[in-house]
Amino acid sequence: MASSGQPRIQWLGRWGFVLAATGSAVGLGNIWKFPYITGEYGGGAFVLVYLACILAVGVPVMMTEIAFGRRGRGSPIDAIRRVVSESGRSSGWSLIGWMAMLCGFMVLSFYVVVAGWSFSYLWKMLSGGLAGSSVDDMAAIFAANNANPWVLGGWSTLVTLLTMLIVGKGVQEGIEKSVSWMMPGLVLMLVLLIVFGVFSGGFGDAVRFLFSFNAGSLSSAGMLAALGHAFFTLSLASGAILTYGSYLPKGASIGRTTVSVALADTVVALMAGLAIFPVIFANGMNPGEGPGLIFMSLPLAFQAMPLGTLFGILFFLMLSMAALTSSISMVEATVSWLCDNKGITRPVAAWSTGIVLWLVSTLAMLSFNLGADWTLAGRHFFE
Ligand code: PFF
Repeated sequence: MASSGQPRIQWLGRWGFVLAATGSAVGLGNIWKFPYITGEYGGGAFVLVYLACILAVGVPVMMTEIAFGRRGRGSPIDAIRRVVSESGRSSGWSLIGWMAMLCGFMVLSFYVVVAGWSFSYLWKMLSGGLAGSSVDDMAAIFAANNANPWVLGGWSTLVTLLTMLIVGKGVQEGIEKSVSWMMPGLVLMLVLLIVFGVFSGGFGDAVRFLFSFNAGSLSSAGMLAALGHAFFTLSLASGAILTYGSYLPKGASIGRTTVSVALADTVVALMAGLAIFPVIFANGMNPGEGPGLIFMSLPLAFQAMPLGTLFGILFFLMLSMAALTSSISMVEATVSWLCDNKGITRPVAAWSTGIVLWLVSTLAMLSFNLGADWTLAGRHFFE
């Protein structure tokens, strides 16, 4: 339980929660994962099931999380314990809070590795490191990036440091301030990228791919992936939204805020599709390329186009910022719990969480190189 009995800090601005929760929701899931799983599972039909999952499952679950947070005013563990004890139920329910926090942490351990890819590609774009590369070169560059633990680990360490720097500064000064410029910046860059897509020559194909419904292309695996992705993209069941909800003023409308966040997240995912697929189609590439889609195919495509390098830089800058506004939300549950229960200051809580995160994410990072053979049930730690 929060030890101090002091009133809980709240978002400063009217849009504080919506911006921060949208920042949490909009991330690698929207820009990296959504396009490639849409490609893998056949386009429009998958998109339709995904939208149905957001509406039928995602929105109600998000409302519940925000309600628990706003009412319980604490990290997932404390908030759930408080709410159930008020209604005379067993405090054992707070186990759900522990599971959520653990889940957020596990997600983050691989998330910082992928975010590290994004920062490293931003650097490659800026420094001209990809200039003149062929399809084979791109695959080799991606593989070489992963094969060197110092390089890969360096980039994921940078993401961890930036995340902890922001979270350590606090809810208003760190999280709210950073999302208040990163989110509008992200949307602006996305709009510019769509305009670029419109002129690329592949826009019509992209629209057809994303929005034409072909029931035959829908598999049960695709439906399950759509449901899983609805949870991931809305940052559900990981403590992030619940904790952000705990900073919501008492009178704020849960329904309205949830709909705003879910809508913004969905619109950004579709916009990301409309920014990426035109470039892929205009260059005759395969939309079902998998996780490497935006790291191998997209930079290659950008290179082949006038002003492509500039837009490539914009793309990876946008992706890196989206990843950061999500990663800060994933550690906030743990940091808030430590501050409330262990009597330590926020910077100490943030940096100690950062050290543990760094250790766990190093395991995920090593899955690509030194630890490629360390598997459990055929999967390595990253998976
Ligand atoms: N919603 C984020 C994304 O789409 O990239 C991922 C995420 C953030 C998952 C925060 C879980 C979380 F707690």
